[in-house]
Amino acid sequence: MGNLLEQAGRLRPAPENFLSDEQVKAVASGRRDFLRKSFLAASAALAAPVVARATEGDPNILTNPAWTTSLGQPVAARPYGTPSQFESQLLRRESPGLARVGGASVSFCPLQGLFGIITPSGLHFERHHQGWVDIDPSKHRFMVNGSDDSLIKRPKVYTLDELMRMPSVSRIHFVECGANSGVEWANVAVPTVQYTHGMVSCSEFTGVPLKHLLDDCGVDYKKARYVLAEGADGSSMTRTIPMEMVESGEVFVAYGQNGEMLRPENGYPLRLVVPGVQGVSWVKWLRRIEVGDKPYATKDEAVHYIDLMPDGQHRQYTSIHEAKSVITTPSGGQTLLDKGFYNISGIAWSGRGRIKRVDVSFDGGINWQTARLEGPIQNKALTRFNAPWVWDGKPALLQSRAIDETGYVQPSYGQLRAVRGSKSIYHNNAIQSWKVVESGEISNVQVL
Ligand code: MTE
Repeated sequence: MGNLLEQAGRLRPAPENFLSDEQVKAVASGRRDFLRKSFLAASAALAAPVVARATEGDPNILTNPAWTTSLGQPVAARPYGTPSQFESQLLRRESPGLARVGGASVSFCPLQGLFGIITPSGLHFERHHQGWVDIDPSKHRFMVNGSDDSLIKRPKVYTLDELMRMPSVSRIHFVECGANSGVEWANVAVPTVQYTHGMVSCSEFTGVPLKHLLDDCGVDYKKARYVLAEGADGSSMTRTIPMEMVESGEVFVAYGQNGEMLRPENGYPLRLVVPGVQGVSWVKWLRRIEVGDKPYATKDEAVHYIDLMPDGQHRQYTSIHEAKSVITTPSGGQTLLDKGFYNISGIAWSGRGRIKRVDVSFDGGINWQTARLEGPIQNKALTRFNAPWVWDGKPALLQSRAIDETGYVQPSYGQLRAVRGSKSIYHNNAIQSWKVVESGEISNVQVL
């Protein structure tokens, strides 16, 4: 492994962090003490007598704690439940290195501390171009109209109550910002998975298929081939969505998220759900859908969220997320406390459908083994994978590689840069590498 780390050209060390030492420590303390726990659990399974000796005299076993000998809190002491006080470090975090205009910015989801595939609503990442708003639902109106009267027979304005009486669907989907992993293009190695990949989250959304509403308004599908989605916030967020996506029945106008109403930060009371498509098209605080016969080329698709290619040209309308994955534990900023067994766990997703397979490597992509996928594996949703690993105490490079149902294989940095160059900001789906050194410390590096 020592040689592997030195292999010239393949390993590009992280040149700088854009967080201060203090900030990195704060992030690292936000991790669960999962690694310590998993080591102890593994020790217990493999060497029970040793553990039995180690527990001798442990006051946590020998004395009855207060919670065993006293009355607990009454029901509804907290009418809206919140996490344990001992989990208070697991938070969305901002990156001080990113530009902020007023309330416009990003908060990253703490992927390193999450299990399964559903992101708790309060930890769902946020991306606002002009801050978030908490709209009075009784005053919110949602309009469907046409760019020209011949495209639609009955333009309508709906209230939230009217929408909630209609047939609804509930589906689990990921939403990822096109700029997720964006700073990695420039090899500015941010320290933790929260900052490298924390602009992806996954929820069960509930709402009304947009096709149902367009049918209700009498849209002429032969002529109307695009829709324009518009938000009610100050950012004038507008995006074009091709009609085929709407006609497939996958696009819906959501009011529910994880069994309750959307959170204000995520678009309360209405947002568009466009499965597989980059987050910017998931227009929040949705107030209008216009049907049209050509793409609208609005500011958020003509000058933003486009890919700067090596020849200096911009590539537009590359909205669908290709397959991507990342190991979330263990990951950058965490420390392995000792040799032995670790459960490698991560998430994979594809905007083209279901994840078919995830491979993991512990030697920087020389050898791969197939990870176990946790079912059910859903369309355009996160898929959790797990793989066993026994750390021998030597340097290692942890990687995961997703393959989706179309057969697309997540590329290495070398493969991605060969096609896309290195000037882009958006749509980075390269294989992520975590470097483990002998002290057990884990950091973010790029393997080309
Ligand atoms: N919709 C409106 N109206 N205003 C916005 O600023 N941001 C977009 C999209 N929808 C945005 C918006 C972007 S860039 C992303 S990545 C997603 O919302 C983020 O969704 P989230 O904040 O719920 O995670």
